[in-house]
Amino acid sequence: MSSTHFGFKTVDETEKAKHVRGVFDSVASKYDVMNDLMSAGLHRLWKRYTVMVADLREGSQVLDIAGGTGDLSMAFAKKVGKTGRVVHTDINEAMLRTGRDRLLDQGFVLPTLVCDAEKLPFPDNHFDVVSVAFGLRNMTHKDVALKEMCRVLKPNGKLLVLEFSKVAKPLEKAYDWYSFNILPKLGQMIAGDDASYRYLAESIRMHPGQEELKALMKQSGFGHVDFHNMSAGVVALHVGIKC
Ligand SMILES: C[S@@+](CC[C@H](N)C(=O)[O-])C[C@H]1O[C@@H](n2cnc3c(N)ncnc32)[C@H](O)[C@@H]1O
Repeated sequence: MSSTHFGFKTVDETEKAKHVRGVFDSVASKYDVMNDLMSAGLHRLWKRYTVMVADLREGSQVLDIAGGTGDLSMAFAKKVGKTGRVVHTDINEAMLRTGRDRLLDQGFVLPTLVCDAEKLPFPDNHFDVVSVAFGLRNMTHKDVALKEMCRVLKPNGKLLVLEFSKVAKPLEKAYDWYSFNILPKLGQMIAGDDASYRYLAESIRMHPGQEELKALMKQSGFGHVDFHNMSAGVVALHVGIKC
């Protein structure tokens, strides 16, 4: 049996998805407030930039993978109009339900689907844009998921991967201190769960850096890949074109 990492722990590959599900089952109801607190609202700017780079048109077909509480799905839905379609998906029912309720409260009725990014239930060459925000890090086989994302994109379609990345060297110490001391305490105070926020800090350290992820996306079928660092590399937006 093969092993993989869940944060800094080594776990059996078949067990990782179960551990990840535990994290998001636990944090779903406090996810949005924690995002605002942890990032001091910066996640809104990172997502706004992602939507700008998506450059959607009326009528675009969009797939939001690991869409969770629906920030990107909602922003995309505003751009594609009545003739377009945004499919809001996630592997976790609690996250997806929280997102669906929020979307409905704002007047958006989107197709919402529980699905695993590693086995997407969509035909080949179907979407103009596919997005995955802060989700790839949690997937067991990132290469398999990226290949699936490439498969469901139309030729010349665009994949947007918004994810934590490697922070600039001068900020490393302060960022580590914040991640391993403050995040778990905030998690405990707000969501009653320090372990999930320790996992967040650890999983960021285990995720491929900017150049590594770019190489992985190329190996997974994207002809052109570029990345845009944000907040000194705390986060990067990788853009892959299927060509
Ligand atoms: C940190 S949340 C991101 C939610 C949202 N995209 C955002 O940016 O706020 C990560 C999401 O990835 C989802 N996820 C983890 N593994 C997945 C998989 N294999 N397929 C689809 N979604 C997955 C989790 O259930 C969780 O909702």
